[in-house]
Amino acid sequence: MTNIGIIGYGYWGPNLVRNFAETPEAKVAAVADLDKTKLQLVERRFPLVKTTTNFHDLLADSSIDAIAIATPVGTHFELGMAVLRAGKHLWLEKPMAETSFQARKLADEAARRQRVLFVDHTFVYTGAVRKMREIIKGGELGRTYYYDSIRVNLGLFQRDVNVISDLAVHDFSILDFLFDEHPVAVSAGGINHFPGTPENLAHITLFYDSGMIAHANVSWLAPVKVRQILIGGSKKMIIYDDLEPSEKVKVYDKGVSFTDDPKQIHEMRVGYRTGDMWAPRLAGTEALRVASEHFIDCIGHGKVPETDGRLGLRVVELIEAATSSMRGRGETVYVRPQEKAA
Ligand SMILES: NC(=O)c1ccc[n+]([C@@H]2O[C@H](COP(=O)([O-])OP(=O)(O)OC[C@H]3O[C@@H](n4cnc5c(N)ncnc54)[C@H](O)[C@@H]3O)[C@@H](O)[C@H]2O)c1
Repeated sequence: MTNIGIIGYGYWGPNLVRNFAETPEAKVAAVADLDKTKLQLVERRFPLVKTTTNFHDLLADSSIDAIAIATPVGTHFELGMAVLRAGKHLWLEKPMAETSFQARKLADEAARRQRVLFVDHTFVYTGAVRKMREIIKGGELGRTYYYDSIRVNLGLFQRDVNVISDLAVHDFSILDFLFDEHPVAVSAGGINHFPGTPENLAHITLFYDSGMIAHANVSWLAPVKVRQILIGGSKKMIIYDDLEPSEKVKVYDKGVSFTDDPKQIHEMRVGYRTGDMWAPRLAGTEALRVASEHFIDCIGHGKVPETDGRLGLRVVELIEAATSSMRGRGETVYVRPQEKAA
């Protein structure tokens, strides 16, 4: 049994408590939040769980093996370091830190202390994203040409992070999980329409050496909610609509082919293929439940999480690069060359 403490019971924290409470071999031992009214909610719903306004109580509790942090991003570094230094395994909400400097320090500290560092990039644990990875790794799409995402809705305007850190973070983690290749350069445009607030709209382009290109359109200022990703390959193409109740992923046997045949030089050199469409069956388990079980499994068996500190660091580096490009009105920002993930 792994005893878990959770710091932060705002919007996302309750989802963590609920999922860990339902995860076999995990037990929610305590919840910390600065706000007593939040703790009263815990006490009503989970009477056996200890509550405290002081997160140090969780660090000092030797019966707690792991701590999950669901507080604002600006607190992740300080709290995360304190958890690792207390010798506990660490679950950090996305993005894992405000800067890549902090993210690297957290990843290094976890490695040095041989603690599991799990970063909650929840989309990686959805049935849809895992199925897309299976299709892509199986070669069904052929060579990937592009990844194109729209992630827009009205609000929730964040005070402490911009829309890249809030929404494009999901695309960065999905891209990292789907493809072995990492982007080499970033160009982004974006704006804050309300002075003194973080940027609320951004268009980000990621360039890859292979010729693949990725784009994310993220906004808190759209009249409707859209969560769509298109992935185009040389053999097939995918559309993933996260708001579809069923059949979220559809695979299209569509594409184009070009001929170099000199005899056809004066003819139309492009051929179009339109074949069948199919919707694969997706695992229906809640992503956070898959993630919490994976975290417990990593702790129990000394495994490295699929969304470990290194993946979390690469994501933070892309947030930094995209934000820097956006503030330079789209200037190209080169990304640190990545060692290939094992
Ligand atoms: N994985 C996902 O899909 C997902 C979704 C939403 C939010 N998040 C992440 O979860 C984190 C929290 O976001 P939120 O929307 O729940 O924020 P929130 O502001 O609603 O809640 C944060 C809570 O942390 C508490 N807190 C702050 N500092 C504390 C401290 N030192 N000790 C104890 N409690 C403290 C606050 O009182 C508050 O209740 C962020 O990193 C966010 O990006 C992840």
